[in-house]
Amino acid sequence: MPDSAKLQTGPNVSGKRRADLTYSYNLKSGRHGWLRLTPAYSVKLVHEILASHPDRHSVLDPFSGTGTTPLCAGYLGHSAFAVDINPFLVWFGKTKVRIYDPATLESARRTLDQAIKSFLENNIAPCPPPPINNITRWWDQSSIDFLCRLKATIRDNASDRTPVRDLLSIAFCRTLIRLSNAAFNHQSMSFKSEKGGPKQGNLFAADDPIMMFREDAEYVIESAEENPNPGVDIVGGDSRQIAELTNQRFDIVVTSPPYPNRMSYIRELRPYMYWLDYLYEPREAGDLDWKAMGGTWGVATSRLLEWKPQNQEFHPGYLKKIVSQVTAANDQNGRLLAQYLHKYFEDAWLHLCSLAKVMGKGGTIHYVVGNSTFYGVLVPTEQMYADLMKEAGFSEISITEIRKRNSKKELKEFVVAAYR
Ligand SMILES: C[S@@+](CC[C@H](N)C(=O)[O-])C[C@H]1O[C@@H](n2cnc3c(N)ncnc32)[C@H](O)[C@@H]1O
Repeated sequence: MPDSAKLQTGPNVSGKRRADLTYSYNLKSGRHGWLRLTPAYSVKLVHEILASHPDRHSVLDPFSGTGTTPLCAGYLGHSAFAVDINPFLVWFGKTKVRIYDPATLESARRTLDQAIKSFLENNIAPCPPPPINNITRWWDQSSIDFLCRLKATIRDNASDRTPVRDLLSIAFCRTLIRLSNAAFNHQSMSFKSEKGGPKQGNLFAADDPIMMFREDAEYVIESAEENPNPGVDIVGGDSRQIAELTNQRFDIVVTSPPYPNRMSYIRELRPYMYWLDYLYEPREAGDLDWKAMGGTWGVATSRLLEWKPQNQEFHPGYLKKIVSQVTAANDQNGRLLAQYLHKYFEDAWLHLCSLAKVMGKGGTIHYVVGNSTFYGVLVPTEQMYADLMKEAGFSEISITEIRKRNSKKELKEFVVAAYR
């Protein structure tokens, strides 16, 4: 492979949307389908990359999200270590990659039966609704009442921090999102009612919400039967300093960092995070997003305007040009978005420098990234990652276009790969 990053286009990929390379492929793939997160990537893509390096067994994902890479690696019999900054996703990932023995699953089934029985007896006091801003935009009142009673029932029937409680909490998340007005027909989440059509996700459309919960729990428990390799771990932490989180050395990375497109994961995760008590007030969502790469939710936006670059930044000339073009493109928001891009790539640079320390000699890295546009200025994220990788000590860098992202023809997704 050449040492400079040249664009490669795989067979049959250029210009196609390739739903098989997105989250939708995961929906019917057992544990991979437990909850949807729009920016999650396809287990098929991860599987293909890992399978093309059969001699690599120590897998790292510094941006774990829903845990697609560590779970896939575990099912292939590899050991894996994954990191995410969002505590809800760390819990979710851990629950997904856990080993469940038959006795635990039997106990989960019994607890489910017991919980439904006590729900129907209707003698448990409901939990208070979560303090989500504008909650009735998400659920109608009858769905909120149902979810408050269901949450209390799960809490009373399954002890906190046990595998059984975790499995039922995942089922609860599936049910709450099915009952909501959230629509996932777009790059990020929207609301069904925003489009002016009938509300479909609420209690009136659901046949029987407690049966919906039973169906969700049975799906979760059944898919928990297939266990991955036990050597898989997911931890909370900041991958800009990944070398401080582990003493291990890895021989392959398959990951997808946030893209520099202002998409906030917090936005889509809020319903789960509020209902499961990971968030208590709106400010916490902004604080968490500020720590995440590419975060701009709430208070993160105002902090961006005050942000100053650190000394160890790496700036190729074209990034400086893009930053000044974006600044000039819009009087009101140009500077904010230019700051956003500047910080995003500085964070990516800090991450890659730290990553270089935990990669074994000859280890290979694979970054799935998407480009973006701001006021018509194209941000070549894939080229930027390739250049940052080279500067951070990686070589044999390649960029492969894998799919078109949406109706804007210039928006694409790439795999940027390199060796240590
Ligand atoms: C594109 S998503 C990863 C999706 C994942 N590949 C999947 O299939 O679910 C990027 C993830 O990076 C996490 N993240 C953002 N900044 C981070 C940081 N500084 N350290 C660790 N994780 C971070 C976000 O919370 C998000 O879950």
